[in-house]
Amino acid sequence: MLQNVLDTQKEVLDFEITNAESLEQFRLNFLSKKGKVSILFEQFKSVPVDQKKEFGQKLNILKAIAQDKLNNAQASFTTIKDELNIDFSLPADPMSIGSRHPLSIVRNKIHDIFNRIGFTVADGPEIEDDWHVFSALNFPADHPARDMQDTFFIEKNPDILLRTHTSSVQIRVMEMQKPPIRALFPGRVFRNEAISARAHCIFHQVEGLYVDKKVSFADLKQTLLYFAKEMFGKDTQIRLRPSFFPFTEPSAEMDISCSICGGKGCNICKYSGWVEILGCGMVDPNVLEACGIDSKEYSGFAFGMGIERTTMLKYQINDIRLFFENDVRFLKQFASEA
Ligand code: PHE
Repeated sequence: MLQNVLDTQKEVLDFEITNAESLEQFRLNFLSKKGKVSILFEQFKSVPVDQKKEFGQKLNILKAIAQDKLNNAQASFTTIKDELNIDFSLPADPMSIGSRHPLSIVRNKIHDIFNRIGFTVADGPEIEDDWHVFSALNFPADHPARDMQDTFFIEKNPDILLRTHTSSVQIRVMEMQKPPIRALFPGRVFRNEAISARAHCIFHQVEGLYVDKKVSFADLKQTLLYFAKEMFGKDTQIRLRPSFFPFTEPSAEMDISCSICGGKGCNICKYSGWVEILGCGMVDPNVLEACGIDSKEYSGFAFGMGIERTTMLKYQINDIRLFFENDVRFLKQFASEA
């Protein structure tokens, strides 16, 4: 049996391939389904056990030799042009270059606007603990956000959860850094929400924090007015409405004059001329104290905005799900923005 392998090997080596026909003959003789090498592989079953190893090794070598010979001959008889049937004189397909995601474009714009007035950028974990997301931020024990309905908790350890807002990074930074602090915290946040055109269970926020001596509400308002004008255009106006967050006191929600209709009224602003854009307020003294900062010496302001929402307003996008589908027809519309 082994001799068959060696004989076939000799035949393979002696076979002269001189043109395309003999090349095809070689392939049929040895490597096609009914070729000699394939038949030897079929015979492997009936080789006595003590010879199987040697037979197998020699057979594999034979196959490699035959395949090599075929490949080399093929390369010398056929050109790439024949093989691929390509007309090399045709102009090349244009190369499509990727573009930045609209959320990255807007996040970078926000960074840029605040960098100009001295804000740096910091980062924090998406998987957080109760202290950084709720307790240190002055959430009472029975606050609805602590409910499973609103927040994704880790089943085995309800102290661990996916952060529901980037305010958790305020705490991390204030625990580690002494004032003055002036920083932005961009990142992904998670809420247990049904997915629709307006809401998603994953979205992005940018948080801002400024803590120093004598920081006032006037500083907050002026900073946000500067931001709104830079982001949405020089004629943009802002309006602050009283609101409530456990971690700021006083708290407000900021509206901007609708950039679509210029305040006249349209379906984006629901004919009010104003659209809500962010939450903000003066950092609650309890929050400063929880982070070891003396609230009699220092004060601060914080704000948080959804990047999806800001992007939807800026580019008049009406469905939040588009950001996560990554359909290139959507994404490439932003290629010139970055
Ligand atoms: N964390 C708030 C939210 O997710 C936004 C906010 C941030 C409000 C900072 C006030 C100050 O809605």
